[in-house]
Amino acid sequence: MEVKKMLCRMIVFLMIFVQGYCESDDLYNSKAATSDLQWIANPANGKWEEVSGFDVGLSKTIRYYQVCAYSNPNPNNWVRTPFISSRGAEIAYIDVEFSMMKCDNLESSCKETFNLYYFESDRDDASSTFPPWRENPYIKIDTIAGERFSTSDRDVNEGINFKTWSIGPLTKNGFYIAAQDKGACMSLLSIRVYYFYCPRTVDALALFPRTVAGKDVASLEEVDGECVKNSNSSDFQAPRYYCNSNGQWIVRTGACHCKPGYQANHLMTKCEECDSGHYKSSHGNQLCSQCPAHSTNARKKMTTTDEPSKEEMDSVFNHCFCEAGYYRTPDEDVHAPCTKPPSKPVAVRPYGVNSSSVTLGWSNPNDDGGRNDLYFNVTCLQCLRLSEREVSSKADCFPCSNDVIFQPSNTKRILGNHLVASNLTPFTTYRFKVYSMNQVTPVSDVAPEYDVVTVTTEETVPSAVVNVQSYALGSKNVSLKWSIPLYENGAITKYQVVWTDITSPFNKDEKESGKLPMMLETKDISASLTDLKPGHDYSVRVRAATSVGFGPYSRPVTFRIVHSDPADLQKKESAPVGLMVGVVVGIVLIVAAVAGLLYFYNRRKWVERERMSEESTLDEKEKLSVEATNLIVSLPPTDRDHRIYVDYPDPRKAVREFSCEIIPSCLKVENNIGHGEFGEVCRGKLREKNGAEIYVAVKRMKGGVKDQFSFLQEASIMAQFSHPNVVQLKGVVTKSSPQMIVTEYMEHGSLDSFLKKKKGQLTVIQLIEMLKGIAKGMRYLSSMKYVHRDLAARNILVNSELVCKVSDFGLSRTLENDPHATYTTQGGKIAIRWTAPECIRFRKFTSSSDVWSYGIVMWEVMSYGEKPYWDMTNQQVVETIEQGYRLPAPYECPMCLHRLMVECWAFNATQRPNMDAVYHRLDELMRQPAALSKVNLQVATTPTTPMTDDPKPFVPA
Ligand SMILES: *[C@@H]1O[C@H](CO)[C@@H](O)[C@H](O)[C@H]1NC(C)=O
Ligand SMILES: *[C@@H]1O[C@H](CO)[C@@H](O)[C@H](O)[C@H]1NC(C)=O
Ligand SMILES: *[C@@H]1O[C@H](CO)[C@@H](O)[C@H](O)[C@H]1NC(C)=O
Ligand SMILES: *[C@@H]1O[C@H](CO)[C@@H](O)[C@H](O)[C@H]1NC(C)=O
Repeated sequence: MEVKKMLCRMIVFLMIFVQGYCESDDLYNSKAATSDLQWIANPANGKWEEVSGFDVGLSKTIRYYQVCAYSNPNPNNWVRTPFISSRGAEIAYIDVEFSMMKCDNLESSCKETFNLYYFESDRDDASSTFPPWRENPYIKIDTIAGERFSTSDRDVNEGINFKTWSIGPLTKNGFYIAAQDKGACMSLLSIRVYYFYCPRTVDALALFPRTVAGKDVASLEEVDGECVKNSNSSDFQAPRYYCNSNGQWIVRTGACHCKPGYQANHLMTKCEECDSGHYKSSHGNQLCSQCPAHSTNARKKMTTTDEPSKEEMDSVFNHCFCEAGYYRTPDEDVHAPCTKPPSKPVAVRPYGVNSSSVTLGWSNPNDDGGRNDLYFNVTCLQCLRLSEREVSSKADCFPCSNDVIFQPSNTKRILGNHLVASNLTPFTTYRFKVYSMNQVTPVSDVAPEYDVVTVTTEETVPSAVVNVQSYALGSKNVSLKWSIPLYENGAITKYQVVWTDITSPFNKDEKESGKLPMMLETKDISASLTDLKPGHDYSVRVRAATSVGFGPYSRPVTFRIVHSDPADLQKKESAPVGLMVGVVVGIVLIVAAVAGLLYFYNRRKWVERERMSEESTLDEKEKLSVEATNLIVSLPPTDRDHRIYVDYPDPRKAVREFSCEIIPSCLKVENNIGHGEFGEVCRGKLREKNGAEIYVAVKRMKGGVKDQFSFLQEASIMAQFSHPNVVQLKGVVTKSSPQMIVTEYMEHGSLDSFLKKKKGQLTVIQLIEMLKGIAKGMRYLSSMKYVHRDLAARNILVNSELVCKVSDFGLSRTLENDPHATYTTQGGKIAIRWTAPECIRFRKFTSSSDVWSYGIVMWEVMSYGEKPYWDMTNQQVVETIEQGYRLPAPYECPMCLHRLMVECWAFNATQRPNMDAVYHRLDELMRQPAALSKVNLQVATTPTTPMTDDPKPFVPA
């Protein structure tokens, strides 16, 4: 209440100053009447009479009432206006104009005053008698005294009094005004009745309606404004105005605010759309701002005939969108300028190039796109071609290996202007793309700009020469052949062959007396050593050089020049000289074997038995003769640390010796998983000595004693092997029936069926990994001097981790049962397609013939279990091989793998790489994905001529 009072006082105070907005409306104006005033006088024909006069101010004739009846006794003359509608006004103002004559010289009854009254009524129901002509029910406004007097009662424009009164509060629809004369001589020139109102107005973007002023001087009408189009207001800021009794708007509070896209005009009466190129993003009465750089909202020019779309009707001026080619990041709002990705980096250049590292530098782009968050993304490609001019087609480049080390390490977001790439391969062409990026690059729809630089790392020394092979060339000469180093690391300028006479390794004195090494250099990958001494042992090593220098030597290869003329030997194999040679070599071998056996005995404490079977004796004879023919005896490595596999004449005794008997209660046989020659093969669970239970494969035998012999033969062989890539014997059950062989369990079964199932689903790396495993197993077996004789994908087993293990060691049994095996002219059974030519011709099985078979396995693996030579007959296969044809590369097989296969299929057994070399080649290929990228894309179905320029097969006469 106090507040309100104070407010009122303040308003009254303000009213003195506030000008304008003051509007009044007439409720009645006698001067406006154009004809009779039609007032009611009482007495009716009494003393108030209506007359006409000229109003100087209006310069027109007006009607008015006059009276001059003082001479009558007790004058009481009334005159009353018509009904005046109050039109909602609570207070009405009355202006009265009159002129009056002074009573100076007149009778005492003359008066210089008159009375003014009003009477409220809802209807115009007054008559000549109602309301009664007296003060009550009329309400007296005032007794009015003249202040100025006219000299002549005839001149209406002279001595005029002007007075104003207010009446109210009015409570009814209207009222009458009445004047009572009690003896004056006067003219009532005009009566004007009016009220004040505050006019309709628009201020602070709010519309305030026409409002009738309040009922008394201190009253204020509180009026809420209505926000204009495209604006609104918050509740606590709602626009409000006060209308005072004088019809003046005072003390405005609150305001409306234009919607986004609109700004207030300067009069604050309208919200107008921003101009094109301007925007306003929020509610408020700030002005529209100019669009940020590279943004626009210009309205599409509409032709008059087009109906504007809904979207066009809606204001688009609450934001500016980016021009084509310019963007904002998701974090940037409408106020941010639009920017674009930077142009490409400038002056991208390599410096500090050496054999293993390249430093790249560049300058910032010419155009930063209007941003300052520039960074660079560098991609590294390795290209196959060495010469820069040739590196044009994209197909020759592929992403750099993960081994490359970058500094800074995050090449996708480099803030500086340089990058060091190290651990690169020497003499290799790299291509670096340096992309300029900034925060809008990811949101832009254009590819980032880049510059590219191509660099070739410097040469370094090559890696070691591999696969050095020696073969005879006449009686004193030896031909050497080798493969180029796996990593050439530059252009090979020459090879250096160094050989030493190491005769009589047992004669230390002579060795230490020192024999000078001999040396020759060549550009070829072959060389001939001439004039060697028969009966001497030689060790030869080869190394390659680039412009930078020599690489490491190959592993030494040792060979012996046998004492004799091969011509004699070839003439008659049974000739005394031939025999003598055989005996000499035989003695050497027996001495070596005895030494090895003694060593073996010490290490293993096993009783080593001499090889007694007919076959093995025959094998050695064959070996001797062929080696004699070749003039070269490849000597075993000097560091003999290997066990040698022993062929036991009685496997039953062997398994007893190995004490691998399993107690049947530790073994639980489960479901059948296949059939073997001697009975079913089941999966089982074996409880091991440490208590752990493992899955095993169990072969159960049914049959007689003769079968038992063969059945256990495989176990006696397997028991001697222990290698992660050879199927492991877990034990045997021989003391109870049925007899069983227990081996580790291989979940995926045989490799050939596994590959057929997985056709096309494995990566080259996975396939090579499997091949590596097989090579490792075979390397182990050959180090054990075990010749497998039936290496094929069907005899490899695969476990759940895709580890391949060599299996099937019961040779005779295997071949008898193998559907691929076929009888040869000699009467044995041989799997022709997997078998080296010398085995088919002479039944000469060696580790080298296993290498041939390994090549076929490689082919099977890379072709996902395809049958080698497809539907050719065995006879056709044999003829094709002899004519020099070999299996073509399977579809999508890397060419380097096929090259290795072809090397395994060298007609001359001595020219094949050994299993160790094969393993190393695969291992190195795995680390050289570039080498694997060249693949065969032709589907071939017939053998082709070998790809390598193999020397003419050396066939003994
Ligand atoms: C005015 O409009 C804005 C945007 O439409 C809205 O967020 C706000 O609540 C409105 N205010 C009122 C009082 O309606
Ligand atoms: C190559 O250059 C880098 C950096 O300059 C250096 O760290 C590295 O040792 C160099 N390597 C060779 C093989 O010179
Ligand atoms: C770097 O550039 C490469 C090639 O354009 C692209 O694949 C990669 O996504 C980029 N990285 C980043 C972080 O933008
Ligand atoms: C060994 O090579 C030399 C030199 O090439 C040649 O003269 C000689 O006839 C060759 N000897 C034999 C037995 O082939």
